[in-house]
Amino acid sequence: MGNNDPRKPNQNLAQPNLSQPNRRSFLDYLLGASAMATLGAIVYPIFRFMSPPQVIESTENSVVAAKLSEVPVNSGKIFKFGNKPGILVHTASGEFKAFSAVCTHLECIVQYRSETKQIWCACHNGQYNLNGKNVGGPPPRPLDEFKVNTRGDDVVVTRS
Ligand code: FES
Repeated sequence: MGNNDPRKPNQNLAQPNLSQPNRRSFLDYLLGASAMATLGAIVYPIFRFMSPPQVIESTENSVVAAKLSEVPVNSGKIFKFGNKPGILVHTASGEFKAFSAVCTHLECIVQYRSETKQIWCACHNGQYNLNGKNVGGPPPRPLDEFKVNTRGDDVVVTRS
């Protein structure tokens, strides 16, 4: 028994499901949102890594570099001077000297070598004497020198 009466609607034809497009667009939206979230999770850390943090230039003019007992004769100590390192040297003759600890060649951190009584840069064997003058290796100029005073048990370094 077929439905041959043109006046009656054909019951066998599939009715369009009105909820189908909504479900599809919702799934498309969900897929797009998760793709964007994944992309953001990848790109944001890369962006944060590539952009340097804001570093406030220190206006500190003076700092306690060490306690007297921390720096025996013929030794050195790296200290923090604002956002840069400094080196405090207690020379074999008992004098205190302080310099920027940033090598003037390619900015490695220098150190004091008690056996040679020199300030030494391990990166390319740069050498400085105890006046901060570059005396060997590739450094092109002397280290910046600071003033040193003692105040009680504190060794105080001041920018010149
Ligand atoms: S960075 Fe110090 S000698 Fe090259």
